[in-house]
Amino acid sequence: MATLYKKNYHQTDISDSSFLITGGAGFIGSNIVEYLVEHGAGKIRILDDLSEGKRTNIDQFEKLDNVEFIQGDISDAAACLKACDGIDYVSHQAALGSVPRSIATPLVTNNANVTGFVNMLSAAKDAGVKRFVYASSSSVYGDSPTLPKVEDSIGKPLSPYAVSKYINELYSSVFAVNYGFETIGLRYFNVFGPRQKPDGPYAAVIPLFMDAILKQESPNIDGDGEQSRDFTFVVNAVEANIRSLFTTVPEATGKVYNIAFGERRTVNQLFDVLKSLANSTMDASYREPRPGDVRHSLADIDNARKFIGYSPEYDIQEGLKITFDWFKNEFGS
Ligand SMILES: NC(=O)c1ccc[n+]([C@@H]2O[C@H](COP(=O)([O-])OP(=O)(O)OC[C@H]3O[C@@H](n4cnc5c(N)ncnc54)[C@H](O)[C@@H]3O)[C@@H](O)[C@H]2O)c1
Repeated sequence: MATLYKKNYHQTDISDSSFLITGGAGFIGSNIVEYLVEHGAGKIRILDDLSEGKRTNIDQFEKLDNVEFIQGDISDAAACLKACDGIDYVSHQAALGSVPRSIATPLVTNNANVTGFVNMLSAAKDAGVKRFVYASSSSVYGDSPTLPKVEDSIGKPLSPYAVSKYINELYSSVFAVNYGFETIGLRYFNVFGPRQKPDGPYAAVIPLFMDAILKQESPNIDGDGEQSRDFTFVVNAVEANIRSLFTTVPEATGKVYNIAFGERRTVNQLFDVLKSLANSTMDASYREPRPGDVRHSLADIDNARKFIGYSPEYDIQEGLKITFDWFKNEFGS
């Protein structure tokens, strides 16, 4: 597939800059790596323990002289310090995703998402990194029923995963206040796109649906399918990372931003779009709702527009089409 990353979001010379992408063998991280490769970044280092990520996501980039892969665990503070050595900019994506996983194994989630996060934040500060952009999550909004979600107004977290992401935001703000360290947090809303995993017990809804449709199996829908999400194509999430690393807007740092498209679809509507892309008439199987899941989600993205210049290019429909073509190519018969 041709690269999706022709457009320039950084608008400065990055040929002498060094980048560390943690979780770079995963879904969003490998897309950020692809952008940096396409735009001639000086040096790109990837830190990933391959617990969820795959070497095949990055083998095309690893061949290049300016790309280095380190297999390491962010819960190991020494590995984080080593990875940050000589780095100008960090995009921190490494974490264990999934609300259900965090409910099943909270200590495992905490180790990667909280201990690992503080290790990375601290290592980046000590190494003199210029800016640290990190993945937070819309799960931070917890039980707040307000729509659309605005950054300053959150509810109580509904899962250990949500707690872990909120703790990331608190630590970042404390590092900004105490050390003047420049951080930006990105609250992603249901990101989807090429290289997202369809397998494993904690796969997300879009790759699961695509995989099922391609295998002509009926996918499972949790609950009545009327829950809604602000599904966000991965190119928009990459744009947000790059713009955050380079924004020169005063007061942009030390904050968190919603990263979404700004429209919502129910899971039933999503399934209908995918069926029409696949020319399929199959029905879904409905099962019990999942504990810890929020009912509706929709982002207000005005702050991201104002402070980091975020201007998402791909709507849900366009993103689904590109993603479905990628899945067909990768997994179709
Ligand atoms: N995909 C989404 O919809 C979404 C939504 C909200 C937030 N996020 C966050 O965005 C980030 C990227 O998510 P993704 O969807 O690309 O998931 P992913 O699982 O594809 O990527 C995460 C990567 O981190 C690596 N990793 C996990 N624990 C690690 C550890 N201890 N040390 C080193 N590497 C480790 C994994 O191997 C994987 O490659 C995560 O922080 C996730 O919580 C994602």
